Amino acid sequence: MSRIFSGVQPTSIPTLGNYLGAMRNFAALQEGNECIYCIVDEHAITVPQDPAEIQKNIHNLAALYLAIGIDPKRSILFIQSEVPCHAQLGWIMQCTSTMGELERMTQFKDKSKGKQAIPAGLLTYPPLMAADILLYQTELVPVGADQKQHMELTRDLAERFNKKYGEVFTLPEPYIPPVGARIMSLAEPTKKMSKSDSNRKATIFTLDSEKDIIKKIKAATTDTEASIRYDRESKPGVSNLLDIFSLCTGRSIDELTTAYEGKGYGAFKADVAEAVVATLKPIQERYQQLIGSPELDQILDEGAEKAYEIAKKTLKAAEKALGI
Ligand code: ADP
Ligand code: NA
Repeated sequence: MSRIFSGVQPTSIPTLGNYLGAMRNFAALQEGNECIYCIVDEHAITVPQDPAEIQKNIHNLAALYLAIGIDPKRSILFIQSEVPCHAQLGWIMQCTSTMGELERMTQFKDKSKGKQAIPAGLLTYPPLMAADILLYQTELVPVGADQKQHMELTRDLAERFNKKYGEVFTLPEPYIPPVGARIMSLAEPTKKMSKSDSNRKATIFTLDSEKDIIKKIKAATTDTEASIRYDRESKPGVSNLLDIFSLCTGRSIDELTTAYEGKGYGAFKADVAEAVVATLKPIQERYQQLIGSPELDQILDEGAEKAYEIAKKTLKAAEKALGI
């Protein structure tokens, strides 16, 4: 039995990448573990957000968490900003970090590139993420491959603090799935699929209609070789579709490439789209039943209370160790 923690930003509707790379595992890991899942709104505001929009996204994300199978009787589900310990330990983690290591984070470099005024929160995002995880004495963090570097920093900060002030934090391990950890953009399959991609056709959102899913996959960038084989380097588009197909059906990549030998991209894409629709449909149906339900607020309130009970102990221990 392990303590699990992870989060998703309420920046828009989660993508198929968020689901296959992370959220699907959140649900699966509930079996035999103690899971804590968070709507990380304080991370979302590292870039400007429209207040009405983020409010809506927080509510929608809560419904989606439940729709993918997070069971509030077994797991804790809460909003980050409702547990002040995150910001408090986040500050302590900032004071444990150096500018140099934060400036080296690839996500910071990507997100700040070309910006006139770089929000300081973009730089201090990783120490806040470290705090999120460390507050719960987390052992395992299910995340996509893009979070590997932040996970390494989290471990470094925990270790540095523990060495200097005494053993306060558990060192967490990332849980990055062997397949699906990096679902790529449908338009530019050398880039990760992202919620914030301005090209909406590049991204499948978990709440997309059947029609949109079919349209987007049909338009997905492939290559001119007309052969369905797995090669991430020279055939990133087809390989990405194979990953998605495999994850949505449980069929192995080998089985799929054998089954589609000699077949055209048109038929292949139609079947991938059908598999994605079949995967998302039951989630969308449950989502529709949950959305707007007053029960959601109650679940989030109770989740915040339970999270606070755990988090405050770690924060106290960290402050005591620091002598503050
Ligand atoms: P985004 O990067 O799409 O804004 P978040 O930062 O909220 O999403 O990430 C939520 C989780 O989804 C993280 O664990 C992240 O690693 C994972 N994730 C994000 N994009 C992908 C992707 N394209 N493929 C697999 N996992 C992903
Ligand atoms: Na991310």
